[in-house]
Amino acid sequence: MSYTNKRILVTGGASFIGSHLVESLVAEGASVTVADDLSSGRIEHLASCIKDIAFIKCDLRNTESASLATKGQQTVFHLANIHGGRGFIETHPGEISQNLLIDGNVFRACLESQVENVCYASSACVYPTYMQGSDPERRVRHLSEEMADPFIEGRAAADGVYGWCKLMGEMSLSSYHKQFGLRGVSCRLFTVYGPRENESHAIVAFVARAISRQDPFVIWGSGGQDRNFTYVSDAVEGIKRAASRVFDGSAINIGTDEVTTVLSAAKIICEAEGYLPAQFYFDTTKPEGVYARAASVKKQEDLLGWRPTVSFKDGARETIAHYRRSNSRKQIETNLKEKLFAR
Ligand SMILES: NC(=O)c1ccc[n+]([C@@H]2O[C@H](COP(=O)([O-])OP(=O)(O)OC[C@H]3O[C@@H](n4cnc5c(N)ncnc54)[C@H](O)[C@@H]3O)[C@@H](O)[C@H]2O)c1
Repeated sequence: MSYTNKRILVTGGASFIGSHLVESLVAEGASVTVADDLSSGRIEHLASCIKDIAFIKCDLRNTESASLATKGQQTVFHLANIHGGRGFIETHPGEISQNLLIDGNVFRACLESQVENVCYASSACVYPTYMQGSDPERRVRHLSEEMADPFIEGRAAADGVYGWCKLMGEMSLSSYHKQFGLRGVSCRLFTVYGPRENESHAIVAFVARAISRQDPFVIWGSGGQDRNFTYVSDAVEGIKRAASRVFDGSAINIGTDEVTTVLSAAKIICEAEGYLPAQFYFDTTKPEGVYARAASVKKQEDLLGWRPTVSFKDGARETIAHYRRSNSRKQIETNLKEKLFAR
Protein backbone atom coordinates (compact mmCIF):
# COMPACT_ATOMS: atom_id res chain seq x y z
CA MET A 1 0.00 0.00 0.00
CA SER A 2 1.33 3.41 -0.91
CA TYR A 3 0.64 6.47 1.23
CA THR A 4 0.72 8.86 -1.74
CA ASN A 5 -2.38 11.10 -1.77
CA LYS A 6 -3.86 9.32 1.26
CA ARG A 7 -5.57 11.39 3.95
CA ILE A 8 -3.68 10.50 7.11
CA LEU A 9 -4.06 11.61 10.72
CA VAL A 10 -1.08 11.29 13.07
CA THR A 11 -2.15 11.80 16.68
CA GLY A 12 0.81 12.89 18.79
CA GLY A 13 2.50 13.87 15.52
CA ALA A 14 4.60 16.60 17.18
CA SER A 15 6.38 14.01 19.33
CA PHE A 16 9.85 12.56 18.88
CA ILE A 17 8.71 9.49 16.90
CA GLY A 18 5.57 11.16 15.51
CA SER A 19 7.47 14.00 13.86
CA HIS A 20 9.80 11.58 12.03
CA LEU A 21 6.74 9.62 10.88
CA VAL A 22 5.02 12.79 9.65
CA GLU A 23 8.11 13.85 7.69
CA SER A 24 8.31 10.44 6.06
CA LEU A 25 4.60 10.42 5.11
CA VAL A 26 4.80 13.95 3.69
CA ALA A 27 7.84 12.92 1.63
CA GLU A 28 5.72 10.11 0.17
CA GLY A 29 3.05 12.59 -0.90
CA ALA A 30 0.44 11.88 1.78
CA SER A 31 -2.00 14.53 2.92
CA VAL A 32 -1.18 14.67 6.63
CA THR A 33 -3.04 16.13 9.60
CA VAL A 34 -1.44 16.20 13.05
CA ALA A 35 -3.50 16.32 16.26
CA ASP A 36 -1.43 17.07 19.35
CA ASP A 37 -1.86 19.07 22.57
CA LEU A 38 1.88 19.87 22.64
CA SER A 39 2.14 18.68 26.24
CA SER A 40 5.40 16.89 25.45
CA GLY A 41 5.45 17.28 21.66
CA ARG A 42 6.99 20.40 20.14
CA ILE A 43 5.85 22.30 17.07
CA GLU A 44 9.56 22.89 16.20
CA HIS A 45 9.85 19.16 15.58
CA LEU A 46 7.62 19.70 12.53
CA ALA A 47 9.52 22.73 11.23
CA SER A 48 10.63 21.02 8.01
CA CYS A 49 7.08 20.14 6.94
CA ILE A 50 4.72 22.47 8.82
CA LYS A 51 3.72 24.22 5.57
CA ASP A 52 2.69 20.90 4.04
CA ILE A 53 0.45 19.61 6.85
CA ALA A 54 -2.68 20.60 8.77
CA PHE A 55 -2.12 20.99 12.51
CA ILE A 56 -4.89 20.73 15.10
CA LYS A 57 -3.93 21.64 18.65
CA CYS A 58 -6.31 19.63 20.81
CA ASP A 59 -6.59 17.47 23.89
CA LEU A 60 -7.64 13.98 22.83
CA ARG A 61 -8.94 13.26 26.32
CA ASN A 62 -11.99 15.13 24.95
CA THR A 63 -14.42 13.13 22.84
CA GLU A 64 -15.21 16.04 20.50
CA SER A 65 -11.53 16.63 19.70
CA ALA A 66 -11.11 12.99 18.67
CA SER A 67 -14.22 13.17 16.45
CA LEU A 68 -13.06 16.36 14.77
CA ALA A 69 -9.53 15.09 14.17
CA THR A 70 -10.58 11.76 12.64
CA LYS A 71 -13.28 13.15 10.33
CA GLY A 72 -12.52 12.41 6.66
CA GLN A 73 -9.28 10.53 7.40
CA GLN A 74 -8.41 7.24 5.70
CA THR A 75 -5.56 6.03 7.95
CA VAL A 76 -4.92 7.00 11.56
CA PHE A 77 -1.53 6.54 13.20
CA HIS A 78 -2.36 6.87 16.88
CA LEU A 79 0.71 7.95 18.86
CA ALA A 80 -0.75 10.54 21.28
CA ASN A 81 0.06 9.43 24.79
CA ILE A 82 0.97 10.75 28.20
CA HIS A 83 4.43 9.26 28.39
CA GLY A 84 8.07 9.96 29.16
CA GLY A 85 11.22 8.16 30.23
CA ARG A 86 11.43 5.75 33.16
CA GLY A 87 11.73 8.63 35.67
CA PHE A 88 8.44 10.14 34.45
CA ILE A 89 6.33 7.02 34.08
CA GLU A 90 7.21 5.69 37.51
CA THR A 91 6.33 8.96 39.26
CA HIS A 92 3.15 10.03 37.37
CA PRO A 93 0.79 6.99 37.45
CA GLY A 94 -2.39 9.08 37.71
CA GLU A 95 -1.56 11.06 34.59
CA ILE A 96 -0.42 7.95 32.72
CA SER A 97 -3.74 6.23 33.50
CA GLN A 98 -5.50 8.96 31.49
CA ASN A 99 -4.12 7.24 28.39
CA LEU A 100 -7.14 4.94 28.71
CA LEU A 101 -9.31 7.99 27.93
CA ILE A 102 -7.19 9.03 24.93
CA ASP A 103 -7.15 5.55 23.38
CA GLY A 104 -10.87 4.99 24.02
CA ASN A 105 -11.80 8.30 22.39
CA VAL A 106 -9.53 7.81 19.39
CA PHE A 107 -10.66 4.25 18.59
CA ARG A 108 -14.37 5.11 18.91
CA ALA A 109 -13.90 8.20 16.75
CA CYS A 110 -12.05 6.11 14.13
CA LEU A 111 -15.01 3.74 13.96
CA GLU A 112 -17.58 6.54 13.76
CA SER A 113 -15.56 8.41 11.14
CA GLN A 114 -15.23 5.18 9.12
CA VAL A 115 -11.46 5.38 8.82
CA GLU A 116 -10.03 2.56 6.74
CA ASN A 117 -7.36 1.47 9.23
CA VAL A 118 -5.69 2.36 12.50
CA CYS A 119 -2.08 1.88 13.58
CA TYR A 120 -1.65 2.04 17.35
CA ALA A 121 1.74 2.86 18.93
CA SER A 122 1.96 0.20 21.60
CA SER A 123 5.03 -0.74 23.60
CA ALA A 124 7.34 -3.52 24.75
CA CYS A 125 6.00 -2.61 28.22
CA VAL A 126 2.98 -4.88 27.52
CA TYR A 127 5.18 -7.97 28.08
CA PRO A 128 5.10 -9.71 31.47
CA THR A 129 7.84 -8.29 33.66
CA TYR A 130 8.67 -11.72 35.16
CA MET A 131 9.91 -12.79 31.71
CA GLN A 132 12.42 -9.94 31.75
CA GLY A 133 14.07 -10.30 35.17
CA SER A 134 17.64 -11.20 36.12
CA ASP A 135 16.72 -14.85 36.86
CA PRO A 136 17.93 -16.79 33.77
CA GLU A 137 15.50 -19.65 34.55
CA ARG A 138 12.44 -17.43 34.04
CA ARG A 139 13.84 -14.91 31.60
CA VAL A 140 12.76 -15.07 27.96
CA ARG A 141 15.34 -13.94 25.45
CA HIS A 142 13.55 -12.36 22.51
CA LEU A 143 9.94 -11.80 23.46
CA SER A 144 7.46 -12.96 20.85
CA GLU A 145 4.02 -11.52 20.31
CA GLU A 146 1.89 -14.30 21.85
CA MET A 147 3.72 -13.89 25.20
CA ALA A 148 1.59 -10.84 26.08
CA ASP A 149 -2.10 -11.68 26.04
CA PRO A 150 -4.77 -10.36 28.41
CA PHE A 151 -6.83 -13.56 27.98
CA ILE A 152 -4.19 -16.14 28.85
CA GLU A 153 -3.26 -16.76 32.46
CA GLY A 154 0.31 -15.67 33.18
CA ARG A 155 0.59 -13.58 30.03
CA ALA A 156 -0.99 -10.42 31.41
CA ALA A 157 1.60 -8.95 33.78
CA ALA A 158 2.47 -5.69 32.06
CA ASP A 159 5.15 -3.22 33.13
CA GLY A 160 3.45 -0.69 35.43
CA VAL A 161 0.51 1.61 34.69
CA TYR A 162 2.02 2.65 31.36
CA GLY A 163 2.36 -0.98 30.18
CA TRP A 164 -1.13 -1.92 31.40
CA CYS A 165 -2.68 1.05 29.55
CA LYS A 166 -0.92 -0.03 26.34
CA LEU A 167 -2.09 -3.63 26.81
CA MET A 168 -5.66 -2.39 27.32
CA GLY A 169 -5.30 -0.15 24.25
CA GLU A 170 -4.30 -3.20 22.21
CA MET A 171 -7.24 -5.14 23.67
CA SER A 172 -9.66 -2.34 22.70
CA LEU A 173 -8.36 -2.18 19.15
CA SER A 174 -8.61 -5.94 18.64
CA SER A 175 -12.12 -5.91 20.19
CA TYR A 176 -13.21 -3.15 17.78
CA HIS A 177 -11.91 -5.33 14.99
CA LYS A 178 -13.73 -8.45 16.24
CA GLN A 179 -17.10 -6.79 16.84
CA PHE A 180 -17.19 -3.90 14.35
CA GLY A 181 -14.63 -4.88 11.72
CA LEU A 182 -12.40 -1.85 12.39
CA ARG A 183 -9.10 -2.69 10.67
CA GLY A 184 -5.88 -2.05 12.54
CA VAL A 185 -2.59 -3.14 14.05
CA SER A 186 -0.77 -2.52 17.33
CA CYS A 187 2.95 -1.87 16.93
CA ARG A 188 4.93 -2.86 20.01
CA LEU A 189 7.83 -0.40 19.83
CA PHE A 190 11.03 -1.41 21.62
CA THR A 191 13.11 1.37 23.24
CA VAL A 192 13.27 3.85 20.37
CA TYR A 193 16.00 6.53 20.37
CA GLY A 194 17.36 9.17 18.01
CA PRO A 195 17.26 12.86 17.13
CA ARG A 196 14.57 14.92 18.95
CA GLU A 197 14.19 12.52 21.85
CA ASN A 198 14.60 14.26 25.21
CA GLU A 199 16.82 13.68 28.22
CA SER A 200 14.18 11.71 30.15
CA HIS A 201 15.16 8.68 28.04
CA ALA A 202 18.40 6.82 28.78
CA ILE A 203 20.26 7.30 25.50
CA VAL A 204 19.77 11.05 25.29
CA ALA A 205 20.52 11.34 29.02
CA PHE A 206 23.85 9.61 28.32
CA VAL A 207 24.53 11.95 25.41
CA ALA A 208 23.88 14.96 27.68
CA ARG A 209 26.11 13.53 30.43
CA ALA A 210 28.91 12.80 27.95
CA ILE A 211 28.80 16.25 26.33
CA SER A 212 28.79 17.93 29.75
CA ARG A 213 31.76 15.69 30.74
CA GLN A 214 30.01 14.31 33.82
CA ASP A 215 32.39 12.46 36.16
CA PRO A 216 31.51 10.20 37.87
CA PHE A 217 29.23 9.36 34.95
CA VAL A 218 25.87 8.35 36.44
CA ILE A 219 23.94 5.31 35.22
CA TRP A 220 20.55 4.48 36.72
CA GLY A 221 20.51 0.90 38.08
CA SER A 222 23.19 -1.75 37.82
CA GLY A 223 24.17 -0.98 34.22
CA GLY A 224 23.91 -4.71 33.51
CA GLN A 225 20.29 -4.36 32.34
CA ASP A 226 19.92 -4.61 28.57
CA ARG A 227 17.65 -3.35 25.78
CA ASN A 228 17.32 -3.62 22.02
CA PHE A 229 17.70 0.09 21.31
CA THR A 230 15.88 0.78 18.03
CA TYR A 231 16.81 3.77 15.90
CA VAL A 232 13.90 6.07 15.07
CA SER A 233 14.12 5.71 11.26
CA ASP A 234 13.79 1.93 11.69
CA ALA A 235 10.81 2.39 14.04
CA VAL A 236 9.10 4.64 11.47
CA GLU A 237 9.73 2.21 8.61
CA GLY A 238 8.36 -0.66 10.72
CA ILE A 239 5.24 1.30 11.71
CA LYS A 240 4.51 2.28 8.10
CA ARG A 241 4.98 -1.28 6.84
CA ALA A 242 2.80 -2.73 9.61
CA ALA A 243 -0.01 -0.24 8.90
CA SER A 244 0.00 -1.22 5.24
CA ARG A 245 0.08 -4.99 5.76
CA VAL A 246 -1.60 -5.97 9.04
CA PHE A 247 -5.30 -5.23 9.51
CA ASP A 248 -6.68 -7.93 11.83
CA GLY A 249 -6.30 -6.00 15.09
CA SER A 250 -3.26 -8.05 16.15
CA ALA A 251 0.04 -6.87 17.62
CA ILE A 252 3.51 -6.95 16.09
CA ASN A 253 6.94 -6.18 17.53
CA ILE A 254 8.83 -3.33 15.95
CA GLY A 255 12.46 -3.43 17.00
CA THR A 256 15.94 -4.71 16.35
CA ASP A 257 17.29 -7.91 17.92
CA GLU A 258 20.67 -6.31 18.61
CA VAL A 259 21.02 -6.45 22.40
CA THR A 260 23.11 -3.84 24.22
CA THR A 261 23.62 -3.49 27.97
CA VAL A 262 23.02 -0.07 29.41
CA LEU A 263 26.66 0.18 30.51
CA SER A 264 27.96 -0.64 27.05
CA ALA A 265 25.51 1.87 25.53
CA ALA A 266 26.97 4.53 27.85
CA LYS A 267 30.52 3.51 26.90
CA ILE A 268 29.74 3.61 23.15
CA ILE A 269 28.30 7.11 23.53
CA CYS A 270 31.28 8.32 25.59
CA GLU A 271 33.67 6.88 23.03
CA ALA A 272 31.82 8.55 20.14
CA GLU A 273 32.06 11.80 22.11
CA GLY A 274 35.81 11.30 22.63
CA TYR A 275 35.34 11.25 26.40
CA LEU A 276 36.40 8.72 29.00
CA PRO A 277 35.10 9.42 32.53
CA ALA A 278 37.31 8.30 35.39
CA GLN A 279 34.37 6.47 36.93
CA PHE A 280 30.92 5.11 36.08
CA TYR A 281 28.63 5.42 39.10
CA PHE A 282 25.65 3.04 39.33
CA ASP A 283 22.77 4.76 41.12
CA THR A 284 20.60 1.87 42.29
CA THR A 285 18.18 4.24 44.06
CA LYS A 286 16.85 5.31 40.64
CA PRO A 287 14.37 3.31 38.53
CA GLU A 288 16.12 1.01 36.04
CA GLY A 289 13.17 -0.82 34.51
CA VAL A 290 13.21 -4.54 33.74
CA TYR A 291 16.58 -6.31 33.67
CA ALA A 292 16.51 -7.84 30.16
CA ARG A 293 14.30 -6.82 27.25
CA ALA A 294 14.61 -7.65 23.57
CA ALA A 295 12.20 -8.35 20.72
CA SER A 296 11.75 -11.45 18.65
CA VAL A 297 11.87 -10.17 15.08
CA LYS A 298 10.33 -13.27 13.48
CA LYS A 299 6.80 -11.94 12.92
CA GLN A 300 8.25 -8.65 11.70
CA GLU A 301 10.37 -10.50 9.14
CA ASP A 302 7.60 -12.93 8.11
CA LEU A 303 4.79 -10.38 7.70
CA LEU A 304 6.64 -7.21 6.81
CA GLY A 305 9.55 -8.76 4.90
CA TRP A 306 11.88 -6.43 6.71
CA ARG A 307 14.22 -5.96 9.65
CA PRO A 308 15.81 -2.84 11.17
CA THR A 309 19.08 -1.79 9.56
CA VAL A 310 20.72 0.81 11.82
CA SER A 311 23.35 -0.47 14.29
CA PHE A 312 23.51 1.04 17.76
CA LYS A 313 26.94 2.57 17.03
CA ASP A 314 25.65 4.37 13.91
CA GLY A 315 22.41 5.47 15.54
CA ALA A 316 24.26 6.79 18.59
CA ARG A 317 26.57 8.87 16.36
CA GLU A 318 23.55 10.45 14.57
CA THR A 319 21.82 11.14 17.88
CA ILE A 320 24.90 12.85 19.33
CA ALA A 321 25.41 14.98 16.21
CA HIS A 322 21.79 16.16 16.26
CA TYR A 323 21.82 16.85 20.00
CA ARG A 324 25.01 18.90 19.68
CA ARG A 325 23.52 20.94 16.80
CA SER A 326 20.36 21.72 18.79
CA ASN A 327 21.81 22.47 22.24
CA SER A 328 24.67 24.55 23.55
CA ARG A 329 26.73 23.01 26.37
CA LYS A 330 25.23 25.60 28.75
CA GLN A 331 21.68 24.59 27.73
CA ILE A 332 22.58 20.95 28.30
CA GLU A 333 23.95 21.52 31.78
CA THR A 334 21.04 23.73 32.89
CA ASN A 335 18.43 21.77 34.86
CA LEU A 336 19.74 18.40 33.69
CA LYS A 337 18.57 16.78 36.95
CA GLU A 338 14.96 17.98 36.39
CA LYS A 339 15.01 17.02 32.72
CA LEU A 340 15.81 13.41 33.63
CA PHE A 341 12.39 13.11 35.31
CA ALA A 342 10.37 15.34 32.93
CA ARG A 343 8.39 14.48 29.80
N1 LIG B 1 10.00 6.44 22.77
C1 LIG B 1 9.91 5.13 22.89
O1 LIG B 1 10.90 4.42 23.08
C2 LIG B 1 8.56 4.45 22.79
C3 LIG B 1 8.50 3.07 23.03
C4 LIG B 1 7.27 2.44 22.96
C5 LIG B 1 6.14 3.16 22.61
N2 LIG B 1 6.23 4.49 22.39
C6 LIG B 1 4.99 5.22 22.04
O2 LIG B 1 5.20 5.98 20.86
C7 LIG B 1 4.41 7.18 20.91
C8 LIG B 1 5.29 8.38 20.67
O3 LIG B 1 6.24 8.46 21.74
P1 LIG B 1 7.47 9.47 21.75
O4 LIG B 1 8.53 8.83 22.57
O5 LIG B 1 7.78 9.90 20.39
O6 LIG B 1 7.02 10.79 22.49
P2 LIG B 1 5.85 11.16 23.49
O7 LIG B 1 5.48 10.03 24.30
O8 LIG B 1 6.17 12.37 24.24
O9 LIG B 1 4.68 11.48 22.46
C9 LIG B 1 3.39 11.62 22.84
C10 LIG B 1 2.74 12.75 22.04
O10 LIG B 1 1.37 12.81 22.40
C11 LIG B 1 1.02 14.15 22.67
N3 LIG B 1 -0.07 14.12 23.65
C12 LIG B 1 0.01 13.74 24.95
N4 LIG B 1 -1.20 13.84 25.54
C13 LIG B 1 -2.06 14.28 24.58
C14 LIG B 1 -3.45 14.60 24.58
N5 LIG B 1 -4.19 14.48 25.69
N6 LIG B 1 -4.01 15.03 23.43
C15 LIG B 1 -3.26 15.19 22.30
N7 LIG B 1 -1.94 14.90 22.25
C16 LIG B 1 -1.35 14.46 23.37
C17 LIG B 1 2.29 14.80 23.19
O11 LIG B 1 2.29 16.20 23.10
C18 LIG B 1 3.35 14.13 22.30
O12 LIG B 1 3.49 14.82 21.10
C19 LIG B 1 3.71 7.15 22.26
O13 LIG B 1 2.43 6.59 22.12
C20 LIG B 1 4.58 6.24 23.10
O14 LIG B 1 3.85 5.62 24.15
C21 LIG B 1 7.41 5.15 22.47
